[in-house]
Amino acid sequence: MTNFSGMEQIIEITYLIATALFILSLKWLSSPATARRGVFAGELGMLLAIAGTLLHHGIVEYKWIVMALVLGTIIGVPLGEVAMTAVPQRTALSHAFGALCVTLVGTAEFYLRTPDVPRFMMGVLSLEVILGSLTFTGSLMAAGKLQEVLPQRPITYKGQNIVNLGLLGVAIVVASMLVAHPEKTQLFPLIVGIPLLFGVMMIIPIGGADMPTVISLLNSYAGLSAAAMGFVLDSKLLIIAGALDGASGFILSVNMSKAMNRSFSNVLFGAFGQEQTAAAAKQEARPVRSATPEEAAAILAAANKVVIVPGYGMAVAQAQHKVRELYDALTKRGVDVKFGIHPVAGRMPGHMNVLLAEADIPYDKLLDMDEINGDFPQTDVALVIGANDVTNPAARTDASSPIYGMPILDVDKARTVMVIKRSMAAGFAGIDNPLYYLDKTLMLFGDAKSFVGSIVREVGGGHE
Ligand code: TAP
Repeated sequence: MTNFSGMEQIIEITYLIATALFILSLKWLSSPATARRGVFAGELGMLLAIAGTLLHHGIVEYKWIVMALVLGTIIGVPLGEVAMTAVPQRTALSHAFGALCVTLVGTAEFYLRTPDVPRFMMGVLSLEVILGSLTFTGSLMAAGKLQEVLPQRPITYKGQNIVNLGLLGVAIVVASMLVAHPEKTQLFPLIVGIPLLFGVMMIIPIGGADMPTVISLLNSYAGLSAAAMGFVLDSKLLIIAGALDGASGFILSVNMSKAMNRSFSNVLFGAFGQEQTAAAAKQEARPVRSATPEEAAAILAAANKVVIVPGYGMAVAQAQHKVRELYDALTKRGVDVKFGIHPVAGRMPGHMNVLLAEADIPYDKLLDMDEINGDFPQTDVALVIGANDVTNPAARTDASSPIYGMPILDVDKARTVMVIKRSMAAGFAGIDNPLYYLDKTLMLFGDAKSFVGSIVREVGGGHE
């Protein structure tokens, strides 16, 4: 039996509580009603994990740690204050920092332990630095593409997949050689350098549309590399936290791919963005019917059943509070108002849920795509606010469309469709939306926040 000293016992108990909090955090994060508690549990778990580690007897000097904590706080606080629409690239940056840290720790451990590195240890160390290095450059590239400091367009060339897989293959062969001969220290820089290059090459062919899915996958890699680091440092907490991160990131990527009807291999190897540009070029000038806020308000006030479908434009305009006022005003008039939430509306998972929760829209009024789609034929008005791709009927009907097969919200089945957006411009996938040309569709041109605000004034609500 292990004989723990008093301090070690405290540390182990702290780690155990932290682990339980991480697991509960993931569970609570899966519903908007408990998500805040989930975030708090995750933060508390991380605080306990750091505190437990600082108590460790191996730490004899706090000077460097305090300097690192201060530096991290100075960089971290402003990083946390980005607009919600920039959260995907912000998350990618966090993965890059985490992965860099894992790679540096792995490198330090290798040179501290060499030449007597046991085989298992060398195996997990190799996994740690390979995953850490490729996640570092891959995440930086992904953040750069999303922030548009790098071109979003996928860059492809013949034999690209062979080159990429070849690079990864070479890194794995070198790692195997190191496992057999850990004393060959001159090989070690290769299992850092080649994956660093692979991370860049891996992201080059991926278009902006698939980037959030890739970021979620990189999140998974960062978690797995941290779990490998847990084996190297003999830390159960790191193994568990890394495995949770690895598994949840992977499941999220699979779910996002499904919601966009993209196969995983397609996300990783297909150049989705190229098709988009070709399709965007086909957009034609056709007549549409438009309406004023007064007309829109009259139609909404006369309806029995309204489904509001929010999208990325609502986030850009920060219209969620005005949408809440519209919900209140219509509900007061006896209109049944619900919200249809597409799993990839906006730019990150749960984007719409977060915004609508911020505006205190009751959770039971937010219905997932599968729950609401059956309601549209009995719906008087589907009010689309800044959503485009997630309502595009071409996904159901046009086999040549790049989004063909993507599950959508069937707003075109409602009796009347009203779409708030500023222009006829395309959405994220860069393609035209046949919904706008239907006889039953009214285009409400304008910024989502001000247009909804004007409707609210007409319907007779608002808090101004
Ligand atoms: P989009 O298809 O991107 O359409 C958003 C629409 O909002 C645009 O057509 C734009 O038209 C309008 N808009 C922008 N600013 C506005 C403003 N201030 N006021 C009013 N309207 C405004 O959004 P969506 O329907 O939410 O679909 C999401 C897309 O992102 C899908 O293609 C999805 O696959 C992709 N995606 C999502 C995720 C996640 S996890 N959510 C991840 C990766 C990719 P105007 O310019 O004419 O106003």
